[in-house]
Amino acid sequence: MDWTRYPRRIAVTGGAGFIGSNLLLSLVPKYPEYLFINIDSLTYAGNLANLKAIETADNYYFEKVNICDFAALRDCFEKYGINAVIHLAAESHVDRSISGPAEFINTNIVGTFNLLELARESGKTGPFRFHHVSTDEVYGSLGETGYFTEESSFRPNSPYSASKASADHLVRAYHKTYGLDVVTTNCSNNYGPLQFPEKLIPLMLRNAVAGLPLPVYGDGMNVRDWLYVADHCQALDLVFHSGIAGKTYAIGGHNEITNLELVKLLCRTLDDLLGGGPRENLIRFVQDRPGHDRRYAIDASRIQKELGWRPEHSFEQGIRETVQWYLDHADWLESCISGEYLQYYARNYHHRTAGST
Ligand code: NAD
Ligand code: DAU
Repeated sequence: MDWTRYPRRIAVTGGAGFIGSNLLLSLVPKYPEYLFINIDSLTYAGNLANLKAIETADNYYFEKVNICDFAALRDCFEKYGINAVIHLAAESHVDRSISGPAEFINTNIVGTFNLLELARESGKTGPFRFHHVSTDEVYGSLGETGYFTEESSFRPNSPYSASKASADHLVRAYHKTYGLDVVTTNCSNNYGPLQFPEKLIPLMLRNAVAGLPLPVYGDGMNVRDWLYVADHCQALDLVFHSGIAGKTYAIGGHNEITNLELVKLLCRTLDDLLGGGPRENLIRFVQDRPGHDRRYAIDASRIQKELGWRPEHSFEQGIRETVQWYLDHADWLESCISGEYLQYYARNYHHRTAGST
């Protein structure tokens, strides 16, 4: 097959995960002139069923490859003549990084290094853009006021965020040292369809519908800045196409809310839609996450001013649509719950049993 009829041959790593699949579902039909190769090893968090709507598209291919396997990755780069990467593959759950950090070091650091090396190699023969998708957690934790910006210092507090920060540094170094065309985005908490139910929102929705306890860590006063996943994908599209090489872009939704308020909002929305409740009675305060960051909030002025990005979804609209999506996709939610997940949950849940409302 002559892939060169596609001017851009883009490896999207982690394309079977939450953000990666939302991104591919929007980009593959939008850019028929590009070739998209989804490189994913299908860990517990990867689910090809997410991609049903595009699996037969002419400009989409899937390769089951672990980004830690340099030889397999190189074969893939050669096979398609890859000339751009949007890098999302990662171990992404903070709690898992606390109970088992090794996989985070391998995938998030060594895997990123492998991709950078291949980009450097491929970049010798033509233009190559490397878009690294990262997190606001690299900046650590805020007090009651202030915002993270692109100039904030790195102060990661969990093995997850430290591994992402390491990857961010490697990406920067490949630009400074080798002149690789890189852009990095640091985004706040995403929510929306297709998120694995170990993360706060889908976990709480699943438990609340089933009448199970809703485990809120610590005092529930930790603050996150939530962004609807489609708005993040729109920002990724913009930065991939128009971001300045070597720059980083902070992305956030300006939707700060405490975990406790958010869980109560989810309960009220379910009560409205399903009747019954009040599901708030299911809330249980449990032992805190070690090193738990208190507050994240993003000042997204750079991407707004320079690239004209603005989130399109209000928080109220996004949450309502999200709750409805999980209600309509109970089968998807249950299909995520593998034996591995249940064992993980059972192993870790006993650390977190303290008090109740
Ligand atoms: P996710 O856990 O839902 O998906 C990760 C995907 O990567 C899965 O499909 C998994 O199979 C794949 N993967 C994991 N290890 C791999 C390996 N060694 N080789 C190949 N594939 C592998 O994650 P997500 O929430 O979609 O996050 C995607 C990216 O965005 C991550 O880099 C994360 O750090 C970043 N991010 C996430 C958020 C958020 O709120 N979810 C916010 C900001 C940034
Ligand atoms: O900020 C971006 C980050 O957001 C991403 O880089 C991560 O990949 C993503 O997982 C997310 O990290 P968080 O740790 O903020 O997300 P999580 O959904 O795990 O938790 C959100 C908040 O809710 C956090 O303060 C911990 C709390 N929490 C979480 C769970 C799973 C609870 O109180 N109870 C829970 O059961």
